[in-house]
Amino acid sequence: MCNEVVYYRILLLLFVKLAPVLSSDIGVEHVLRLPSQMNADPTSLVATIFGVADDIEVGNTRPFYFSHIEDPTSFEFFTEEQIRDIPFSSEALPQLLRFFAFSDDSPQALAMKQTLELCEAEPPKGEVSHCATSLVSLLDFARRVFGSDRITILRSPLVSNSTPPVQNYTVVESEEISTGNMIPCHYQTYPYAVYHCHYELASRNKLFTISLRGDNGDTLTPAFVCHFDTSSWDADHVAFRVLGFKPGDSEVCHLLPSHDLVVLPK
Ligand SMILES: *[C@@H]1O[C@H](CO)[C@@H](O)[C@H](O)[C@H]1NC(C)=O
Repeated sequence: MCNEVVYYRILLLLFVKLAPVLSSDIGVEHVLRLPSQMNADPTSLVATIFGVADDIEVGNTRPFYFSHIEDPTSFEFFTEEQIRDIPFSSEALPQLLRFFAFSDDSPQALAMKQTLELCEAEPPKGEVSHCATSLVSLLDFARRVFGSDRITILRSPLVSNSTPPVQNYTVVESEEISTGNMIPCHYQTYPYAVYHCHYELASRNKLFTISLRGDNGDTLTPAFVCHFDTSSWDADHVAFRVLGFKPGDSEVCHLLPSHDLVVLPK
């Protein structure tokens, strides 16, 4: 129940913040829950976010990890007005550190530097990318990619503290939402919400929403992404250590991490 309250609060906040640009074309239709560290140790609980496509066949039971989010508001975009006068570039980093009152050698300064560098880097071949610092900038990018304003943003539902971080879940439903045509947006550590969004031009990734019933009775509806071409992945990727195969051997799937978004054409 607590779950739902938080969930609706977030939806409401998102809608309120985004209202001027939302129009009736965009709906935040799902909120998905995601784990916070993808660079997990293969024996850790977080590693239970990984799997293969067969794992989400209806009736299957397996453990999954869902992280709790302490402060959901940190994942919400600032408004255009709030960020209008704040530069967003590596060049302006010294000025930004003064503005946010972080010392040069603080963890926050390092995180900002890394985020800005990622946002200024050329995307890998076959991808276009964009760092969205506001909903308007996310929508502009989506419009350029899909050629339309009609989009859906998927996010994870929040999990309350009453849900164990890891427990067995039975797959109650599984629905393929999209193949390839999706923009995953990864939350970056920064003083305000910044999402690194990327679109793979010839992606074979598939996006599913699944309905899971936990051992404690909770029902969650996260998104699950399967990457069918892993041949170019780093052999050291934690997914291979968890799943026990090599790049290109099999698809790698994972729950969509909780603070990320996926943007889809409607
Ligand atoms: C999940 O179920 C399996 C099989 O019943 C059991 O061995 C395992 O301990 C359970 N895992 C959790 C996290 O409850």
